[in-house]
Amino acid sequence: MLHFDMSMAILLLLGLSFHLSVLAQPSAVAPPNSWKVSDMQRTIDMDNGSSILPILDHRIMSYKTYFGFYTKDGNSFVLSIVIFGLQAPVIWSANPDIPVYRDAILNFTREGDLLLSDNNGAMVWSTTTKSKSVAGMSLDVSGNLVIFNQDNSSAWQSFDHPTDTLVMGQSLCTGMNLSVMTSNTEWPSHRVYLSVQWNGLLYTFQFAFYTKLFEANTGSSCSYFRNGSFGFPQKIFSLPFARSLQYMRLEPDGHLRLYEMQGVGQDSLMVLDVLSTEMKFCDYPMACGNYGVCSKGQCSCPSFSNFKFQNERLPSDGCVPLSIPSCNQAQNQQLIQVNNVSYFSNSVFLLLASSTSEIVCKQSCLTSCNCRALIFQKNVYGSDGGYCLLLSDGMVILFADDSSNRFLAFVKYGRNTRKTRNHSLMSYLEYQSVSPFMS
Ligand SMILES: *[C@@H]1O[C@H](CO)[C@@H](O)[C@H](O)[C@H]1NC(C)=O
Ligand SMILES: *[C@@H]1O[C@H](CO)[C@@H](O)[C@H](O)[C@H]1NC(C)=O
Ligand SMILES: *[C@@H]1O[C@H](CO)[C@@H](O)[C@H](O)[C@H]1NC(C)=O
Ligand SMILES: *[C@@H]1O[C@H](CO)[C@@H](O)[C@H](O)[C@H]1NC(C)=O
Ligand SMILES: *[C@@H]1O[C@H](CO)[C@@H](O)[C@H](O)[C@H]1NC(C)=O
Ligand SMILES: *[C@@H]1O[C@H](CO)[C@@H](O)[C@H](O)[C@H]1NC(C)=O
Ligand SMILES: *[C@@H]1O[C@H](CO)[C@@H](O)[C@H](O)[C@H]1NC(C)=O
Repeated sequence: MLHFDMSMAILLLLGLSFHLSVLAQPSAVAPPNSWKVSDMQRTIDMDNGSSILPILDHRIMSYKTYFGFYTKDGNSFVLSIVIFGLQAPVIWSANPDIPVYRDAILNFTREGDLLLSDNNGAMVWSTTTKSKSVAGMSLDVSGNLVIFNQDNSSAWQSFDHPTDTLVMGQSLCTGMNLSVMTSNTEWPSHRVYLSVQWNGLLYTFQFAFYTKLFEANTGSSCSYFRNGSFGFPQKIFSLPFARSLQYMRLEPDGHLRLYEMQGVGQDSLMVLDVLSTEMKFCDYPMACGNYGVCSKGQCSCPSFSNFKFQNERLPSDGCVPLSIPSCNQAQNQQLIQVNNVSYFSNSVFLLLASSTSEIVCKQSCLTSCNCRALIFQKNVYGSDGGYCLLLSDGMVILFADDSSNRFLAFVKYGRNTRKTRNHSLMSYLEYQSVSPFMS
């Protein structure tokens, strides 16, 4: 790819490259050069108190894009590319999980490496483009930061290292992940992502052991985001035609949403939940939060006599048991049956469940401190056996509506000791040896 622009070429020819950083904001700059956050003069205010200290800028259609240090609080900074607008869409970040502070330095070294280091000089991020005959870096018309070499071809580009956003014209290729940003979720980093496989686009919720493949029978190693489609040469997802700049972002709830800019200074508008033709609301492991029951696009609790919504106004935040079981009072725990539900994903159930009897399944949950709920599927042949899935802390505890009678579900519940005790479950523990089978 060629990414050299004429003004840059002229400046280089005139040997003026060292002046580039004092121009307002160039769209290209040559090494060596460095930017210390606390010394940067210019601040461009965005919406809601966020701002950017620009290093380079360019336009995508009629929208100004900036590469620079982006901050929401004026204190911690993420090296980012943003589109100037109300929501200041951040389309790429170098160090999303490791913000830097005022004394951080971005160093475009003589050798051609672009290095971000924190106040102690510790390296936070780098393009590792040393010794690639680097001649400069530029922000191009599509919002791509390119480090180009003396042949005017790309040695590194931000488009090859997407974070959670793709802009129209960008593609997702083998070896790249489009990931939900950690800073926005309670889940461990880079565990929810889209990637390209030989047979299609793979959607992964690693923490929930959930994957979904959107198949495409092409040998292409890239999925292109074009005007009207997202997919391989053969399209997987249809998109509304772009009336202006579009971008798509994998958001904290796991949805890939398409946005369209509405004009300079306006909010961008969500125009499509891209995967919605293939993934229903209840397929997302985060659809209803812990202990939620997802049914026909709605979240509810297993029962309202034993549970309540975590947040009345936001059913998708999940539910909490009215009496939370405590580990060190095993005798005060019980399993209450939840009717007409199964696990949110049948394929995950099949993957994780182990073969055992209902009694052992319940017992294992009661004796494992971390166990929060269990789902048991009886064998069809009427024997005692079946498949047991223990849902522990850190796993997704999400139920789906299911009145097929194939599953039994129980949720661990604390009980009030002052009430008459019912030992029917505890009695199992007294006469049966305990054999926890899931760690
Ligand atoms: C470098 O590549 C850019 C983008 O393709 C092109 O516009 C420019 O003319 C090229 N410059 C040189 C000196 O080849
Ligand atoms: C800006 O902040 C307000 C209040 O905190 C919030 O309601 C609004 O959604 C924010 N807007 C954007 C674009 O983030
Ligand atoms: C940038 O890196 C070069 C080479 O590693 C080093 O000599 C220089 O001191 C660094 N500049 C800053 C401002 O840290
Ligand atoms: C993509 O995610 C997988 C699984 O977490 C990981 O092994 C791989 O290194 C990631 N690739 C990139 C480019 O981040
Ligand atoms: C996208 O394609 C449609 C239909 O061909 C066209 O009208 C529209 O101008 C295109 N949008 C952009 C941003 O190129
Ligand atoms: C479970 O589903 C069946 C069949 O739809 C229904 O008859 C029954 O009332 C449901 N049970 C509960 C407790 O909701
Ligand atoms: C204990 O609970 C079981 C099942 O819920 C019930 O059949 C039994 O009658 C209860 N016993 C007492 C003493 O309440």
